Amino acid sequence: MALPAALWRNARIVPCTTVATAASVHADALVTVGERIEWLGEEAQLAPGLRARCAAVHDLGGRLVTPALIDCHTHLVFAGDRAEEFAERQRGVSYEEIARRGGGILSTVRATRAAGEAALLDAAEPRLRALLREGVTAIEVKSGYGLTLEDEARMLRVARELGRRHDVDVRTTYLAAHAVPPEFAGRGAEYLRVLAREWLPELARRGLVDAVDIYCDRGAFSAADARTLFEAARALELPVKMHAGQFADVGGIGVAAQFAALSCDHLEVLDAADAARMAQAGSVAVLLPVAYYTLGQTQPPPVGLLRAAGVPLAVATDCNPGTSPCASLLLAMNMACRLFGLAAEEALAGVTCHAARALGLAPARGALEAGADAEFVVWDLAAPHELSYWTGLNRCRAVIRRGRLARGTLP
Ligand code: NIG
Ligand code: FE
Repeated sequence: MALPAALWRNARIVPCTTVATAASVHADALVTVGERIEWLGEEAQLAPGLRARCAAVHDLGGRLVTPALIDCHTHLVFAGDRAEEFAERQRGVSYEEIARRGGGILSTVRATRAAGEAALLDAAEPRLRALLREGVTAIEVKSGYGLTLEDEARMLRVARELGRRHDVDVRTTYLAAHAVPPEFAGRGAEYLRVLAREWLPELARRGLVDAVDIYCDRGAFSAADARTLFEAARALELPVKMHAGQFADVGGIGVAAQFAALSCDHLEVLDAADAARMAQAGSVAVLLPVAYYTLGQTQPPPVGLLRAAGVPLAVATDCNPGTSPCASLLLAMNMACRLFGLAAEEALAGVTCHAARALGLAPARGALEAGADAEFVVWDLAAPHELSYWTGLNRCRAVIRRGRLARGTLP
């Protein structure tokens, strides 16, 4: 049945169309017609004709309203955990050392290959539910723990299935270029060619790929590998992204910029020239403070350089078993402020308008304005800065998805 027009009034609305409009309240009412926002502003200015069309009126009792949140970088689908490695790191062994010994990503690959589709779904669902409870309605899910054609396909199918079973939009990202699997040990260049030229077209043909990513870093893949992969992505008209500069600058950003990457993510190691390249290419910088925190890194991303260059900053959980066993985007916002020095409004823009851009979902998602999707959260809070201020406290009251109450209760 078609949704009638609805007036959502007595709200403290933070539109998040830009960092500036993520800083404070800009409107007290909005009108949705079907799945879209028709109008947003001060209720006193609402045209009588439009008000008369509103069959439903929801008084939000002065509560904060923001766009629904977007987690634009996750590895949500995986089997097992790496709590043992966490304990090892506590004893002083580094993440890169554990990876060199065949642990790290490859230990999750072993667990994920051994898990069937149902087990992968069961494992991912609690993590997804935790995100949804915080007002998330769109997430990215990467592959990258399968590293064979069919194991990657299974991860991506599970990601799609999560989107069907839960009220969330899932964007899938193909990340077979995450590690070299044991079958290709010592033959990394050959593995890269296979995953780029054989597996990617096949998975795209099966409709499983929305974007293509590569882990471009010391001990991982090179800038030349990124070029090979991105050429294959371009031939299929798929957008690209890059894990870059988590540990070292191996020259990937220049390649990412040449392919107009949607985003480059991590970026603890980044210079001014690369920040300028990202700005020119229109790429978003996705900051992953929980991974930085978990690994006990000490050099934060050069946020000042990124800001000065005009690169939009997004914030995501990076939910994964190794570097970010975390299913809280609100916690990631707090850490982006406290560890990376983001302003509270930058953190909020980072999980709304800029996150939407990092997934190619802007401007319909991640911002509240006429014409955008009616996807918003009602918080039991009064000011936007409270979202980054609290930790361990989730004040999400209700989630409106495509104009309808999807979760929680209206006041
Ligand atoms: O985003 N850096 C590479 N990929 C993940 C870690 C994956 C893992 O350790 O399992 C990341 O941090
Ligand atoms: Fe990641």
